[in-house]
Amino acid sequence: MGAAMTNKPDFPTRAIPGPAPYGQAVFAVAPMIDWTDRHCRFFHRQLTRQALLYTEMVVADAILYGPRDKLLSFSEAEHPVALQLGGSDPGKLAEAVRIAADYGYDEINLNVGCPSDRVQSGTFGACLMQTPEVVADCVAAMKAVAAVPVTVKCRIGVDEQEPADVLPDFLARMVGAGADAIWIHARKAWLKGLSPKENREIPPLDYELVYRMKRENPGVFLGINGGISDLDQAVQHLDVMDGVMLGRASYHNATLLTEVDQRVYGAAARPVDWDAVRDGMIGYAERVIASGGRLNHVTRHMVGLFQGFAGARRYRQILSSEATKPGVSPDLIAEAFAAVDIAGGAKTQGASGNSEAAE
Ligand SMILES: Cc1cc2nc3c(=O)[nH]c(=O)nc-3n(C[C@H](O)[C@H](O)[C@H](O)COP(=O)(O)O)c2cc1C
Repeated sequence: MGAAMTNKPDFPTRAIPGPAPYGQAVFAVAPMIDWTDRHCRFFHRQLTRQALLYTEMVVADAILYGPRDKLLSFSEAEHPVALQLGGSDPGKLAEAVRIAADYGYDEINLNVGCPSDRVQSGTFGACLMQTPEVVADCVAAMKAVAAVPVTVKCRIGVDEQEPADVLPDFLARMVGAGADAIWIHARKAWLKGLSPKENREIPPLDYELVYRMKRENPGVFLGINGGISDLDQAVQHLDVMDGVMLGRASYHNATLLTEVDQRVYGAAARPVDWDAVRDGMIGYAERVIASGGRLNHVTRHMVGLFQGFAGARRYRQILSSEATKPGVSPDLIAEAFAAVDIAGGAKTQGASGNSEAAE
């Protein structure tokens, strides 16, 4: 299989020093419920060695009282991985951090951005933007027991809050409580009247405000998230920000991850070893099936690869519909790869990375 990924030598790299805890610019794949499960992360890890991968949000109560192995175990190959927790009870969050320590996560993150009704009824997620003192208590409790960085992912505000007024105070409290890094989804969430999906699209993005927060907090690691649809945009944000987090674009157009090590981390330019990606996924799918999973659990996350390549449509068809048939072999992945003109590269940009066809 040909070495097709573009390796543009004159890309500016952003392999620059940054504040602790990472000490360098960071590219992160955002936490996404139902999407960034362990199979998805293993797949993304075949495409980038260095991007920071986030889990789906896991609710602290579920870790305390639920099937914790199922919720927390992951493959060594996925590192670096950050576990995102949901919750608002400092004691429970601290206990969840203690339990998660045995699993070897590289970072623990607290969700202060999810606006779904289910999450609001548990009084956590984005509605916590209204009670920064509660979040600070949570962060302090998590920090007290964590051996790894504790970070926060937040919005710029909710409902009638004025982001320019509340965000500086929110960030100061997080830093005061010991947060090691803060990822900011650069739009408000509306807690009533908008669905979670609409809350990722309708409230306007305010990158300037997030940039201002970075300028005012030069020593604090601040990452930006929201509406960033390709690597060119991501790298531009890194002119100002320490980190950049892409959710939907990483998922729907996973090919972009193959350039992250080079363009963000300054790794030497080298062609993508697509044979290794294919074989890595076949071997992984075999292990998943052997332990009781289904091929489709793995392949459903792979349909966003090869967007814009000739043959991508057939690739998607094979991996989405044929992979659901009973007893189908992981070799189907080889069949899907063979349908793509990989050597020809991406012909078109394809659909926007922010389309949410799969939602
Ligand atoms: C399907 C889906 C599930 C999501 N689940 C979570 C989640 O568990 N925790 C979280 O903090 N954000 C979650 N988000 C929000 C993303 O992390 C991210 O903030 C948002 O999609 C904006 O970034 P993007 O424009 O790069 O996608 C989710 C987004 C999507 C599309």
